[in-house]
Amino acid sequence: MENNLVYRRKGIILAGGLGSRLFPITSVVSKQLLPVYDKPMIFYPLSTLMLSGIRDILIITTEKDNNLFRDLFGNGNQLGISIKYQIQSEPRGIAEAFIIAEKFIDQEPVALILGDNLFYGDGIIDLLSKANKNKNSTIFAYQVKNPKRYGVVEFDKNSKVISIKEKPKKPKTNFAITGLYYYDNSVVEKAKQILPSKRGELEISDLNSLYLKENTLNVELFGRGMAWLDTGTFDSLNEASAFIKTIENRQGLKVGCPEEVAWRKGWIRNQDLVALAKPLAKSGYGEYLISLLD
Ligand code: G1P
Repeated sequence: MENNLVYRRKGIILAGGLGSRLFPITSVVSKQLLPVYDKPMIFYPLSTLMLSGIRDILIITTEKDNNLFRDLFGNGNQLGISIKYQIQSEPRGIAEAFIIAEKFIDQEPVALILGDNLFYGDGIIDLLSKANKNKNSTIFAYQVKNPKRYGVVEFDKNSKVISIKEKPKKPKTNFAITGLYYYDNSVVEKAKQILPSKRGELEISDLNSLYLKENTLNVELFGRGMAWLDTGTFDSLNEASAFIKTIENRQGLKVGCPEEVAWRKGWIRNQDLVALAKPLAKSGYGEYLISLLD
């Protein structure tokens, strides 16, 4: 069993927002429940947190969608984890999640993942487990073609990170900060110090800059063999589906399957996996879960 750590990092999935760049698809359905090939989008970030060893999870959604997520996952027991739910009533920024989650975090270190971010690649489990085991703060940067859309890192001659700017007009590098953040237990207090940006949000880049100023932020690079996809536009959503379909059909293994992760981690037993598989047997997803036992 894992989690024999002195502390137990909590995990947050931020699945709020209007998804307005995907209207009309998201007019009545939460973006994070849309399919990415064969499963709801939120399965991917949930699996990512679980893979890094996190079992105590809070899902933050809009008020309208909260019950849908509760219907999907319940209290998480069936996956050997605990899932709780809270509401972000207005899209006031990623960093607001820590203020909303103050009680849940309860002065422990915490990881946050954006509900529309998808990570895939060899070696990812080691990187994430390392970040989880480190009591301090770790964020990840990844090379992208269009850095202007993201938080962007700047390095000095010695590859030390010297700044993180949110959606800069003239990015200093092509390295974007991904939507996966591991923080120490000062994060709530830091989030409360931030003021809203011009777009009216508590920016995660401002929070990261506070850590940077303190010299307590590890910025790890994801190499080119990793895939970091976001799914916020028609094209990126479609591309993510095609990517997952290609990998899954080639290997016969699923990506972002929380039932499988729970079982491989030893958080649920064989018979629990069978019980989860039964209602899903007709779609092939259930068949896959059963086949894991062979
Ligand atoms: C947000 C963050 C940005 C980060 C990105 C990752 O952008 O503000 O720093 O690089 O997520 O997906 P937003 O989704 O608000 O445009």
